Amino acid sequence: MTIREAIDARHSVRQYLKRPIDGEIRKILEDEIAACNAESGLSIRLFLNDPEAIRGLWAYGSFRNADHYIALAGPDTDDLHRLSGYYGERLVLLAETIGLSTCWIAGSYKKGNVQRHLNDGETLAAIISIGYAAKPGKPHKSKTYEQVTETTGPVPDWFRDGVEAALLAPTAINQQRFRITLKDGEASVRALKGPYSKIDLGIVQYHFEIGAGRPVKAE
Ligand SMILES: Cc1cc2nc3c(=O)[nH]c(=O)nc-3n(C[C@H](O)[C@H](O)[C@H](O)COP(=O)(O)O)c2cc1C
Repeated sequence: MTIREAIDARHSVRQYLKRPIDGEIRKILEDEIAACNAESGLSIRLFLNDPEAIRGLWAYGSFRNADHYIALAGPDTDDLHRLSGYYGERLVLLAETIGLSTCWIAGSYKKGNVQRHLNDGETLAAIISIGYAAKPGKPHKSKTYEQVTETTGPVPDWFRDGVEAALLAPTAINQQRFRITLKDGEASVRALKGPYSKIDLGIVQYHFEIGAGRPVKAE
């Protein structure tokens, strides 16, 4: 499965099998986390067999056997949330290609139970539950191309391909509060106001880049 194919295959999964993540699969994940940290300056970490972050939650969508998660943390800068979205989604899509399922979680978890594992100076943006799916996810209801774009002049295929991939991105409460602009032949992505929309921005930026096959500015 390619990363582009992973974009089509991915849906949030909240119910997992009681199954460890180990061996080669664990190593692939850990290597990619190390690569993301080296590139971004974040301190992303994988926590295995730690059910305390997500146990027994009343939140929308009930979690089961959510024993493993990725914590997205880093220095408390203006860009922490976008960067967490961008690199977190890179991990989500890689996970999909190796048979793992995920769910972004920014609200419905016990933040203190994760924060206590982190070092001073590491601020937590969100976590991503990860594991082998017990119950598959399903496609989200989506806004249309027209609702999320603003363009001037002719629209190239790569832009349409980028938007198509962006509309498949996970966003907090499925809000899709972003706009993708094409001006003078250049694309950019921006977040509208909404809960966690700066994390969404990084996620959407990553999806657009995979779909379009070229970098896009985030504003
Ligand atoms: C930044 C962010 C935060 C999220 N927080 C939560 C959460 O706290 N609890 C939860 O159950 N789902 C959470 N989600 C998952 C979204 O509800 C889900 O991505 C959205 O409904 C779209 O569905 P899909 O991921 O299956 O495409 C979050 C997603 C994102 C991107």
